[in-house]
Amino acid sequence: MSSNTIEFILNNRIHKISNPDPNETILNFIRLKLKKTGTKEGCAEGGCGACTIVLGELVRNNIEYKAINACIAFLPILNGKQLILVEDLISSDGKLHPVQDAMIKFHGSQCGFCTPGFVMSMFAMYKNNKKFNDEIVSDSLSGNLCRCTGYRPIIDAAKSLNKKKYIDEFLKLKKKTINLLKKIRTKNIEIKNKNKKYFAPKTITELKEVLKKNPDARLLSGGTDLSLEVTKAHKEIKKIIYLNSIKELDFIKSKKKEIEIGACTPLIIFEKFIKKYYPDFNNILRRYGSVQIRNVGTIAGNIATASPIGDTLPLLLSLDAKLILDGSKKKESISLNKFFISYRKTKLKKGQFIYSIKIPIYKKNIFKAYKVSKRFDDDISSVCGSFNIEINQNKIKKIKIAYGGMSEIPKRAKKTEKLLINSIFSEQIFNKAINYLKNDYKPIDDMRASKTYRMEIAKNLLMKCFLEVRNKKILRIN
Ligand SMILES: Cc1cc2nc3c(=O)[nH]c(=O)nc-3n(C[C@H](O)[C@H](O)[C@H](O)COP(=O)(O)OP(=O)(O)OC[C@H]3O[C@@H](n4cnc5c(N)ncnc54)[C@H](O)[C@@H]3O)c2cc1C
Ligand code: FES
Ligand code: FES
Repeated sequence: MSSNTIEFILNNRIHKISNPDPNETILNFIRLKLKKTGTKEGCAEGGCGACTIVLGELVRNNIEYKAINACIAFLPILNGKQLILVEDLISSDGKLHPVQDAMIKFHGSQCGFCTPGFVMSMFAMYKNNKKFNDEIVSDSLSGNLCRCTGYRPIIDAAKSLNKKKYIDEFLKLKKKTINLLKKIRTKNIEIKNKNKKYFAPKTITELKEVLKKNPDARLLSGGTDLSLEVTKAHKEIKKIIYLNSIKELDFIKSKKKEIEIGACTPLIIFEKFIKKYYPDFNNILRRYGSVQIRNVGTIAGNIATASPIGDTLPLLLSLDAKLILDGSKKKESISLNKFFISYRKTKLKKGQFIYSIKIPIYKKNIFKAYKVSKRFDDDISSVCGSFNIEINQNKIKKIKIAYGGMSEIPKRAKKTEKLLINSIFSEQIFNKAINYLKNDYKPIDDMRASKTYRMEIAKNLLMKCFLEVRNKKILRIN
């Protein structure tokens, strides 16, 4: 049975909206309909964190708190969740939340425009962790920009929370909230609002039925790419199928030789999991957007977007990942190497969706990945390089090299690989290889980086990889 009404928890009550506009952002709903203006709009593209809100989600009888960017999240995705706004942090007896107290005590605010966003990111960090070390603090705050205070007082405020033991209102009311969340977690959503439709099926079977009837619908996962068509390009998306209510698509399985990641697994979950297999994959993901972006964004979304600078793509290409596609026909497997056709065009057919991504585990190999961007945190790559090498008795047995930002699609450096395979692992051959990259790539030229600069970075990254492997040392140039 489906419903045209979304239900979510706001201030300890179930809030219902029938046939909401599927293109309306949560931010506009909060500010224009709820008239709560604590949450701010800065960039309207997920880049500044001024609009950060927190969603409470029921996971194994517990509540997980996710900071997200309300400016790029569509209203219907609230269905089945708890919406927490900066105004809700103050307790019923008027006391500030410890994170608000800390911001005041450490002078973490000046003009105040960014403050609600920082407070909400800090609130999610406070709820999800017991201790707040440098890594947790910098990760949690990397998606929030401040133009006047500077970050030190804000970081100090976050770290000071280590000394606070405080039972907040959300903990006191946890049982009640869990019961309310359970009450509203049953139905598929089918919305019709003027000329727009929105579907949120709960199983793969239902997804296939909806897709069959609506092959022209756009698939929505984390929305960190798709929503910008509305918020930045001011287009309408008339039909949306939301995938993230389908639990069958949210999984990570690891076997002896392979890892499989369901299409809807959030990047933040994958990032923690992949660390023990490929630490450099984890390093790149920690610089991927922000926690707000990675809390909802997915690898499947990154792959389907097919951007030449999508960060997971060169890494997956050098690891020889496969995609499992599903849809109206039988499931099929396709190598990622064959998936990208031309600029933002892929082999995905109408009515098909990415079911999962399979990544081989190379126990003998060395895996390296580097991202070069204008800003360290929360920025998109100029160039991203990834190298997967098997060396035996100082000979290169196998090597897979892939770059993002070097052509209209992310792709392998097949000619350079050929040159390196079966060569002695030496500076001489890598010196030759870096000049060979021009046979594989004609770099793109845009406001992020010129083609000459991109080629120079690509060469340097390959050489950096060689030097790190040879010296068994990570090289950092600050
Ligand atoms: C502020 C900001 C920072 C960002 N930083 C980075 C960054 O550092 N590196 C980077 O690579 N990207 C970055 N991005 C881009 C974006 O976050 C990624 O591309 C993300 O992985 C998209 O995933 P999603 O789940 O949000 O996709 P969505 O926006 O939901 O969808 C994107 C596209 O994929 C399709 N799609 C989604 N799921 C499926 C599926 N299962 N099957 C078939 N098609 C599907 C959709 O139809 C749509 O066309 C950033 C974006 C923002 C807004
Ligand atoms: S307004 Fe800047 S991230 Fe949302
Ligand atoms: S306090 Fe002014 S932008 Fe941060």
